[in-house]
Amino acid sequence: MKLFLLVGHIGLTISSLTEFTNIQCKTLDKSVAEFEYCYIKAVNRTYKYISLKVKMNQLPITTTKVNIALLKRYNGYKPFLYNYTVDGCRYLENPDQNPIAKYFGDLYLPFTNINHSCPFNHDIILEKLNIQFLNNHLTKVLPFPEGDYCLSMIWSLNNARVLIIKTYVALSKIAN
Ligand SMILES: *[C@@H]1O[C@H](CO)[C@@H](O)[C@H](O)[C@H]1NC(C)=O
Ligand SMILES: *[C@@H]1O[C@H](CO)[C@@H](O)[C@H](O)[C@H]1NC(C)=O
Ligand SMILES: *[C@@H]1O[C@H](CO)[C@@H](O)[C@H](O)[C@H]1NC(C)=O
Repeated sequence: MKLFLLVGHIGLTISSLTEFTNIQCKTLDKSVAEFEYCYIKAVNRTYKYISLKVKMNQLPITTTKVNIALLKRYNGYKPFLYNYTVDGCRYLENPDQNPIAKYFGDLYLPFTNINHSCPFNHDIILEKLNIQFLNNHLTKVLPFPEGDYCLSMIWSLNNARVLIIKTYVALSKIAN
């Protein structure tokens, strides 16, 4: 986000910068699915990305629910703005119906192999979700205040709680 501020008579441009600080992926129910890998890779200072793969142990997947919660660090991570459960299969049929789910869906889906209607008959891959994209999306599409955030996603597949993904990002503003 470029925000034009007038400080006295001096123009000052504020840009936002997002950094991945951590990712945690936890399998809760191996009988349905499990993480094969999940990592942040820093290619260089500006090119960082997240990749993950979920191996399915039960197919097909016919129902999905995703609990999406945003947390912000104050004195420990506290709930911030959203805590919301989406019916994944219904969402994929009609993403425009639900603006909040669409916002988070637009963050992840372009980098996955799950942007299609249910059922799922294959493993799930998130390939190289890069920080520039996230930066753009988080700061230009919906401006958030500076701080440390955690996006928590709890995935239920075929009615079992199966996966938790926590993505940690730091958001800062730079004046230039
Ligand atoms: C960082 O790596 C990407 C991908 O390899 C490359 O396109 C980009 O030019 C690199 N940037 C710097 C500053 O080296
Ligand atoms: C969001 O709300 C649900 C249901 O109240 C709760 O189980 C979950 O722990 C909350 N998520 C976070 C990250 O606080
Ligand atoms: C998902 O796929 C549909 C149909 O191909 C496409 O119109 C939409 O832009 C895709 N959504 C995302 C978030 O990639």
